[in-house]
Amino acid sequence: MTIENAKKAAGRAAADLIKNDMIVGLGTGSTANYFIEALSFRVKQGLYLKAVVPSSKRSHDLAKSLGLPAQDINQVPYIDITVDGADEIDPLKRMIKGGGGAHVREKILAVNSREMVVIIDETKLVSKVGVGKLPVEILFFGSPATRNALEKKGYFGKWRLNEDGSFFITENTNLTYDVVFDTPPLYPEQVHEEMIHIPGVIDTGFFFDIAGRVVVGYFDGHFEIQ
Ligand code: A5P
Repeated sequence: MTIENAKKAAGRAAADLIKNDMIVGLGTGSTANYFIEALSFRVKQGLYLKAVVPSSKRSHDLAKSLGLPAQDINQVPYIDITVDGADEIDPLKRMIKGGGGAHVREKILAVNSREMVVIIDETKLVSKVGVGKLPVEILFFGSPATRNALEKKGYFGKWRLNEDGSFFITENTNLTYDVVFDTPPLYPEQVHEEMIHIPGVIDTGFFFDIAGRVVVGYFDGHFEIQ
């Protein structure tokens, strides 16, 4: 009865959704890692994949180490399905992602896929997104000014740091400003819209109208597909 059981259940169930000849986008994070491992197991059992397209160096390295045919997004004509985790998801399938610093690439993969399958453990289900932090990716150039601009609009948070106190650097070599809301926003789409137009903001961790099937893993090891 652990969270790892739940993540593993979701990752394995998603691997069973993959069919022969597919091109598969790989998300990033601990749940995505379980999916990648389960996918490589299926490939060893005879599943044929045209390619996998990782969203981060971490997922790329794991895929390669497991013998999966990793390719760059620019090398493939399309992506059938992208499987990725999330930090929060609400009943309208609005999500927050970016806990692992790869959400910009994850969004590019997801919107360019025929379907994004979301894999989560049960703790990620929320009634409204914005319970935890919202990762906002910010260009290093002018980053204090960009932060000021966010704060002027009422969005306060913290620069994401590594354990040694250095700045956390995203997959795209940018910074992350983790915004914290007093209460989850009533209209998260408006928040995204407001933030995205500030010069220096690369993207927010909000994902709207992108999620397809959602595979929820539970602590007791069972899963549901919503
Ligand atoms: C990576 O940047 C994130 O979007 C992850 O997909 C998200 O944080 C979920 O990660 P876990 O599966 O590790 O919880």
